[in-house]
Amino acid sequence: MRAAAIPESFDRKRLHVITWGCQMNVYDSARMQDVLAPLGYVPTPAPDDADMVILNTCHIREKAAEKVFSELGRLHRLQQARERAGGRMILAVAGCVAQAEGAEILARAPYVDIVLGPQTYHRLPEMVARAARAVGAVIDTEFPAEDKFDYLPDASAPQGITTFLTVQEGCDKFCSFCVVPYTRGAEQSRPAGAVIAEAKRLVAQGAREITLLGQNVNAWHGEGLDSGTWSLGRLIRALAELPDLRRLRYTTSHPRDMDEELVSAHRDVPSLMPFLHLPVQCGSDRVLAAMNRGHRVDDYLRTVERLRGARPDLALSSDFIVGHPGETEADFAATLALVRQVGFAQAFSFKYSPRPGTPAAAAPSQVSEPEKERRLAELQELLRVQQARFNAGCVGLDLPVLFTSTGRHPGQITGRSPYLQPVHVTGPATWIGTEAMVRIAAALPNSLSATLSTERACA
Ligand code: 5AD
Ligand code: SF4
Repeated sequence: MRAAAIPESFDRKRLHVITWGCQMNVYDSARMQDVLAPLGYVPTPAPDDADMVILNTCHIREKAAEKVFSELGRLHRLQQARERAGGRMILAVAGCVAQAEGAEILARAPYVDIVLGPQTYHRLPEMVARAARAVGAVIDTEFPAEDKFDYLPDASAPQGITTFLTVQEGCDKFCSFCVVPYTRGAEQSRPAGAVIAEAKRLVAQGAREITLLGQNVNAWHGEGLDSGTWSLGRLIRALAELPDLRRLRYTTSHPRDMDEELVSAHRDVPSLMPFLHLPVQCGSDRVLAAMNRGHRVDDYLRTVERLRGARPDLALSSDFIVGHPGETEADFAATLALVRQVGFAQAFSFKYSPRPGTPAAAAPSQVSEPEKERRLAELQELLRVQQARFNAGCVGLDLPVLFTSTGRHPGQITGRSPYLQPVHVTGPATWIGTEAMVRIAAALPNSLSATLSTERACA
């Protein structure tokens, strides 16, 4: 289904979407814009003059709800100003905070018109119509029986050279600290046919790199093009056949779901980039068990070995939590040891923060705040040194870069290396959207600079 063109006579309305959190929220925000386009909503860059504002929220870390209420306070003032001027601003709260705390939002911020969870975005037009008739707020945080992807229009907005495609949602793993299984619901995979059709459209619109998204993306097991069920490795092989699609990535993976078909895709599929975000969370078996991760340190190390066996230049990124309830100094030392052993090109690290309703939040032996801060600082320093070492190790290499935009300085263009590092070169804007070999000249704190030679172009 393609989003209908806006009829000439249709009133244009301005829609401002504020997106917090993960790449899936970025993708969802784009889909919400698509689903509202037939109603005449066009994106506007600021909330001030918007007829509707959607706050797409994230619940993964600390003070999520407080952040939402403070932003809602700011939006409420704009909403009131609009009312004084005789207009109307519809205010919607979407995403994981809406899912987890919908009733609380309506109690504390009764001026909110719509509260909707991540599984009900396809019902947004109906909710907007009900809100426009305006008797009380509309709340929809169900996990509906129908699949929202069957009802959402095709992506219509220009998606860019590098783009995201949701293939899987939800999670059944129930890690002790995590809200995702509660806010995003049970694991669900889209059929391969739907994914491939969407990928074809994205490529036709100019995408050259697609990142497959899922909370547990490597648990994807969708209906295949034949009668059976495919795994993610098989899906990647099928997507790699699309002409003009130069790069494939997937995120976020769980170490338990790294099956042989996916590992071998890293060996056999050149367009599958040699960079993998594979969260381990910590390096102690005791804490991994308390986290209900379902794998031990050794399993993770063996998985890394298999991956590097398949693709020797594979670089790894990870997520870490320090100060999970019960984490001792020895457990933390084991995390540092794991980081030293694996060597990460990049990583995200967080202090454990209790999420209401999750098992770890109620666990005894919470680690004190100053202790968590000290551990986090120590871990981040080690990760920073590893990242700097990895970037410095790229100097002198020839790497393919997919150019995506002009740079900050005149005559500069910017793109990403296979390892997701931003790379700046002096080169023509006409190279944007193409991939070319560059020689890495220097490693800067958060990016690389390179020289481009036209003879080395591989676009
Ligand atoms: N506290 C701290 N970090 C968390 N994460 C998820 N839940 C929490 C929490 N309660 C981190 C994990 C996850 C990443 C997306 O966010 O490391 O992999
Ligand atoms: Fe959360 Fe990831 Fe664990 Fe699922 S696997 S519960 S999304 S941390």
